[in-house]
Amino acid sequence: MSGDVAEWRAAPHGTKGWVGRNVLAAAVHSHEVAACKGTIRMAKDNTQWGRPSAARADAAALTPAGLAAVWAGAHTARLVLRRPQAGDGPAMFAVHGDPATNRHNPAGPDLNLATSAATLRGWLRDWEANGYGYWAITRTDAEGVIGFGGVKRLAWRDRDVLNLYYRLTPSVWGQGYAAEVARTAVGLAQAYLPHLPVIARTRSANIASQRTAERAGLRRRPDLDTAHIVFALGWTPAGEPAGPA
Ligand SMILES: CC(C)(COP(=O)(O)OP(=O)(O)OC[C@H]1O[C@@H](n2cnc3c(N)ncnc32)[C@H](O)[C@@H]1OP(=O)(O)O)[C@@H](O)C(=O)NCCC(=O)NCCS
Repeated sequence: MSGDVAEWRAAPHGTKGWVGRNVLAAAVHSHEVAACKGTIRMAKDNTQWGRPSAARADAAALTPAGLAAVWAGAHTARLVLRRPQAGDGPAMFAVHGDPATNRHNPAGPDLNLATSAATLRGWLRDWEANGYGYWAITRTDAEGVIGFGGVKRLAWRDRDVLNLYYRLTPSVWGQGYAAEVARTAVGLAQAYLPHLPVIARTRSANIASQRTAERAGLRRRPDLDTAHIVFALGWTPAGEPAGPA
């Protein structure tokens, strides 16, 4: 595999694919189609490779339980991307209360554990409602949460979108972890939720964040800027289906 390509595998059902800069393809095995309540009709034989658009119409019908079966156990070669738990408050505060991880965040670091715990409770509700949301990230070869990231659904500019997010503890920066998380999240989004645009909003000085969004296949969209600068994938003019724009 080249450095641009991360493998993702969604346990326990064995969804497996390779996700590159622009999301190359997804492999869907028949047994996990059953796990997703039969809503993806891709695999008549054991394995079928297809571009995400092949599954678009049916993927829109996936239930939260079906999505959770895919999303909650995703991992890459180096990272475990798991559903956050109620006990992750201290890990949340360790990352979100650190001034270094908030250098570009005008709202500043979380002031205390209660603030981070409240954010965590919101994320847990996202998972309950949708079957996916931001992951807690650990390494396969070490204990401890190194950060949080992924996509979660929210309303933005009067549309439902997937917001791409990543915040990692500084000791692991510069090793390609954020890019790996972002590519995996965007790969799953394109495979299972292709009707939803993916956006990333960041500050103009936050080059690392911008590079990470680009590494996941998002493109700079100055026309969508607010106080943030915006990157997007699949944001098309209103009324048109999501596409590669
Ligand atoms: C943004 C962040 C998640 C990146 O994490 P990371 O694991 O260090 O990123 P990666 O190693 O995967 O690098 C991803 C890309 O960003 C680039 N990058 C990373 N740190 C950088 C820096 N300080 N300056 C410029 N580019 C940087 C990398 O070179 C890579 O791009 P490339 O592959 O095109 O060369 C991390 O810096 C962080 O947690 N920052 C604080 C939180 C934050 O700002 N989150 C974004 C909120 S909008």
